[in-house]
Amino acid sequence: MPDTPIPAPGERTVADVMSQPVVTAQPAETVALAAQRMRDRRVGSVVVIDHDDRAIGILTERDMIRLAAAGSDASSAKVSEWMTGDPDTIGPDIEARAAFSRLAEHGYRHIPVVEGSGNAQKLVGIVSMRDLMRVAMIQPATAQAHEVPKGLEGVVVADTTVGDVRGLEGFYHYRQYSAVDLAKSRPLEDVWFLLFKGRLPATLTEREAFMADIRPRRAIPPKVAAVLPEIARAGETFVPFDALRTAVSQYGATLGFRPSHDVDDATLRDNALSTCAVTPTLICALWRLRQRLEPIEPHPDLAYAANYLYMMLGEEPSAEHAAAVEKYLISTIDHGFNASTFTARVITSTGADLAAAVVGAIGALSGPLHGGAPSRALQMLDEIGTADRAEPWLRAAVERGDRLMGFGHRVYKTDDPRSLMLRDVAESLGGDKMDLARHIEATAVKVLDELKPGRRLYTNVEFYAGIVMDRCGIPRELFTPTFGASRMIGWCTHVLEQAADNRLIRPSAQYVGPPPPQPVPPIG
Ligand SMILES: CC(C)(COP(=O)(O)OP(=O)(O)OC[C@H]1O[C@@H](n2cnc3c(N)ncnc32)[C@H](O)[C@@H]1OP(=O)(O)O)[C@@H](O)C(=O)NCCC(=O)NCCS
Repeated sequence: MPDTPIPAPGERTVADVMSQPVVTAQPAETVALAAQRMRDRRVGSVVVIDHDDRAIGILTERDMIRLAAAGSDASSAKVSEWMTGDPDTIGPDIEARAAFSRLAEHGYRHIPVVEGSGNAQKLVGIVSMRDLMRVAMIQPATAQAHEVPKGLEGVVVADTTVGDVRGLEGFYHYRQYSAVDLAKSRPLEDVWFLLFKGRLPATLTEREAFMADIRPRRAIPPKVAAVLPEIARAGETFVPFDALRTAVSQYGATLGFRPSHDVDDATLRDNALSTCAVTPTLICALWRLRQRLEPIEPHPDLAYAANYLYMMLGEEPSAEHAAAVEKYLISTIDHGFNASTFTARVITSTGADLAAAVVGAIGALSGPLHGGAPSRALQMLDEIGTADRAEPWLRAAVERGDRLMGFGHRVYKTDDPRSLMLRDVAESLGGDKMDLARHIEATAVKVLDELKPGRRLYTNVEFYAGIVMDRCGIPRELFTPTFGASRMIGWCTHVLEQAADNRLIRPSAQYVGPPPPQPVPPIG
């Protein structure tokens, strides 16, 4: 690192904090052997060396997760196939704080420490983010404060193999597959399988076995069913998503979910599968109870989406409606580190139980800036009413400082791929709202471009979602819960991932109030 400052006197260097001797591996070794060594020596990575002890790669816990997610066998996979080759290295004389910034900037967790270069390079240690952080923490807050943008925009807070969103390209994926391609070609259960198991079911038998595992879990346990009428009818007004939050909490408590910290992976997976399976049933039961209708039991022959509509509306949906809702549900299962997913991970990082994590996530998703928008987008369509009113209505709203619901996104600065897919679905379903929706979309994009130049605001998932759900008979009040039902699968996948490689998530804040310590005044 040539541009690194010379350490000031008394400043700690990498050599002061690095670990020695380094746990190493050979490129031709199996990943299983290297992983065993990591576990035995309680380290998070091994440096891969050649015959001259030069660092030629690094294999980390992250690579193990990638390998597991790809369904590869660690006992036959070679270290050389999974390591990061030609790794970045750092010199031992570098200031620890400068090294900390570098690791943070690149997202590294470990970096080999070497002396010399080229053929004369010698591995002398390894330094971890954690070692360096201990040194950086001793500095006053101002010295360690990173320029963290408000709302944590663009800040990388974890590694994940669940999926990602590429905002500038308008692309997002679950594992290694485009989410839109999955929605167009696979049933929801396959995508659920993919997220939970890291790969798609390979055969119809595998798919059927997974569905058979889910089927009995869709039923509401009697002790939970007994309290649903009270939850559904408690308030003057009925917010189904809030009722779901209470019901899921009750469900976890009734089934005796234990802290993720205290249970093994199999138990947590079992909790996750049951919670995802029962959520649609809970939503429909709460909704029907509020209407003074009897809840409808899950239909054993119907898959997720068709069964959801059946339990809600009391009759088997058309194949067209079931397929449209299924596409919507698949497209909303996961979407990077959005607020509710992050919430679920933060709660899991404390070791709390799975219900605690997803109940928190439901709370986060309920906000109109996150999941609460689809019914508001449709409301906007109703208020505008006719095409000729669109431009003055939208212009006045933006000039007043209102947000147009169904437009804008933290990550997408181009068309939201979910919106494009759902627009096609909405178009194929037809209906009287579609022409108006397209006109409002075009006008809003033009008005936003004019009044909010450079913000790159386009339709997000919520705009056409409302139209699709409305067309398939889903009442507006159930739009956000429907989103929550599919996102439950994403949240649970993240809970499992967080629990498998956990560290308490505990950031810091910059104190900007009156300078302490002030004398505590007497009451007066
Ligand atoms: C989704 C959303 C919360 C993302 O917000 P964000 O990344 O924090 O964006 P910001 O709040 O920083 O907004 C940036 C600018 O664009 C404007 N903007 C963003 N979305 C807008 C919208 N839907 N209508 C009007 N203006 C909008 C903001 O007013 C702000 O303008 P300013 O620079 O003059 O202050 C935001 O676009 C929004 O509120 N959309 C409407 C609600 C919605 O559809 N939610 C569902 C999301 S899937």
